[in-house]
Amino acid sequence: MFSPEGPSLRELAVQALSSVERGYDLLAPKFDHTPFRTPVAVLDAVGSALRRVGPFDAGLDLCCGTGAGVEVLERVCRERVTGVDFSAGMLDVARERVRGPRVSWVRADARALPFAPAFDLVVSFGAFGHFLPRELPGLFAQVRSVLRPGGCFAFPLVAPPRPGSLGYWTLLGFDTVMRVRNALRRPAFVMYYRAFRLGDVQRELAAAGFGVELQPLPEFGRRPDGSPRVRLVMARRPG
Ligand SMILES: C[S@@+](CC[C@H](N)C(=O)[O-])C[C@H]1O[C@@H](n2cnc3c(N)ncnc32)[C@H](O)[C@@H]1O
Repeated sequence: MFSPEGPSLRELAVQALSSVERGYDLLAPKFDHTPFRTPVAVLDAVGSALRRVGPFDAGLDLCCGTGAGVEVLERVCRERVTGVDFSAGMLDVARERVRGPRVSWVRADARALPFAPAFDLVVSFGAFGHFLPRELPGLFAQVRSVLRPGGCFAFPLVAPPRPGSLGYWTLLGFDTVMRVRNALRRPAFVMYYRAFRLGDVQRELAAAGFGVELQPLPEFGRRPDGSPRVRLVMARRPG
């Protein structure tokens, strides 16, 4: 699947029949050769936007996987950078890939973060589909609790595909397959592309005590209705 170095269809099926944590442990050695890794264009655009509002001191990449966001943080944070993920396999690959005296890796669940309010910036890429809508209040409260006053939680959000388009049917098909799979098999593999929507996200961030700003990422242009294709959500903990 995807490329000669990527996982086979059979490997992907075995991973999707596991728990999220175990699935990523299995996928880890080949993860960087899948489309599930955040594309460099998105990472660079977020890095540029953060450079305009930074610099920051300490940064955390939430659900860091193999370290894509940690490399962004290294560019915009002056002091330390931490990646947190619950998959030991993903963290092993991250440790091999991204080395440096300022970088550390922590194995933990994003829903129970083991940190004091010690970060000025938390980023997250490509992981919100792993959380059910009812988990967002707890997740955002955790992020708020590890930010210093005035700290920022930033992540890119892609506009949903136009109803009826190929992208729309592809994501709907994927989510439907996952819902059927999760109705039939335990442990669940929570991965829904269509559940993390801008309106809900803004509401839940505000309810968790963040001030929310949206910045279009100009690198990705606009849709025919004039709205940005990709936004950076910047949620600030009041200072
Ligand atoms: C699609 S990958 C994205 C990895 C990386 N951020 C990137 O953009 O390439 C999702 C990551 O979220 C992690 N993850 C999912 N649920 C998590 C949770 N509750 N706590 C910590 N990590 C979690 C997975 O282990 C996986 O590494």
